[in-house]
Amino acid sequence: MKVLLAGGAGYIGTHTAVEMAAAGNEVVIADNFSNSKPEAVRRVEALVGEKIPCYYLDVADKKLLTEIFEKEKIDVVVHFAGLKAVAESTKIPVEYYRNNIDTTLSLLEVMQEQGCRRLIFSSSATVYGEPKKLPLVEDMPPGVCASPYGWTKWMNEQILRDACCANPELSVVLLRYFNPIGAHESGTIGEDPQGIPNNLFPYIAQVAVGKRPCLSIFGNDYPTKDGTCVRDYIHVVDLAKGHVKASAYAMEHEGLATFNLGTGVGYSVLEMVKAFERVNELKLSYQFAPRRPGDVSECYADAKKAKEILGWEAEKTLEDMCRDTYRWQSKNPQGYPEG
Ligand code: NAD
Ligand code: UD1
Repeated sequence: MKVLLAGGAGYIGTHTAVEMAAAGNEVVIADNFSNSKPEAVRRVEALVGEKIPCYYLDVADKKLLTEIFEKEKIDVVVHFAGLKAVAESTKIPVEYYRNNIDTTLSLLEVMQEQGCRRLIFSSSATVYGEPKKLPLVEDMPPGVCASPYGWTKWMNEQILRDACCANPELSVVLLRYFNPIGAHESGTIGEDPQGIPNNLFPYIAQVAVGKRPCLSIFGNDYPTKDGTCVRDYIHVVDLAKGHVKASAYAMEHEGLATFNLGTGVGYSVLEMVKAFERVNELKLSYQFAPRRPGDVSECYADAKKAKEILGWEAEKTLEDMCRDTYRWQSKNPQGYPEG
């Protein structure tokens, strides 16, 4: 099948491109490089050993999107194209709503015009809001999101749900990611945050290579095993493989399906720090800091549905996540080069 990865030059998109190609699929990328660099796509090409058609465009631009669909005859779209910095979304919410919702609407309209019926959407565990019960199961009602970014995911889910109700031929898979970390084991592709990292693992990696002096752990008075927050960290290569399975599922089924992509296991921030130190045989400098607004104390998936229906489950270990993150960061301390 031919798969269009919208936002495919980013962190999860590049890893998905590798796994899609390894599974024998044709890959096409569309990206405006607002949060990624062309070098990332060149490195994917080096890993898969073939040229990947890559279009430089805003996915909300229907005219340019139509040209891609006319040229490439796409079977499945995987929609990663979104802004994702939670704190930034509270400062420029309108840009977040504009970008993250327009991209979905344009994709849906062009897909309908071009007869493409299958879409995989990058959603997030953030749509569950403050967990009332753990683990989080797909049929729990969506909760109150903690940020405009979260609401864009919630609203996109609703838009796609409505689109499926109106068009029974449409096939949409909502993938609710938990906390993706890690990198391809080659160390040639990985997460390349712009500026100060918002998320835990990129921050840890930058402290480990001496790019930042000290990690702040946000809160050590949560009602958890050691007082720090608990999350379900998942290796990005496992997550990427989940997209391969979801695309195959979308080829065979109509309607809307929702899957958690997590491991089902929660680790605390301190456990993550200690694991990173142990696996990579180094010491991380850290200090405790006040709680970060919007953080929930614990969040982890019930991962059974994806196993039963998609035949997917996370295989990589916490050690793999720590080792691969460090390998990527050590080999690329400044991330991808420009140009
Ligand atoms: P990323 O920023 O690395 O990748 C997103 C890509 O989309 C970037 O290459 C960016 O340039 C591109 N993009 C953004 N707006 C675009 C537009 N209008 N037109 C074309 N390209 C556009 O992020 P990621 O970590 O790879 O995340 C991918 C998706 O998964 C996002 O939608 C994100 O919200 C979602 N998600 C990510 C996480 C995570 O922890 N990384 C967790 C849950 C959900
Ligand atoms: C965050 C977003 C979530 C989004 C996901 C992927 C919030 C509230 N949630 O998840 O919506 O889908 O990223 O982009 O922002 N931590 C530290 N020090 C740091 C960074 C993080 O202690 O420097 C802690 C956090 O307090 C949290 C844990 O590490 O307890 C994980 O944080 P992070 O990696 O940002 O992910 P989430 O907050 O779970």
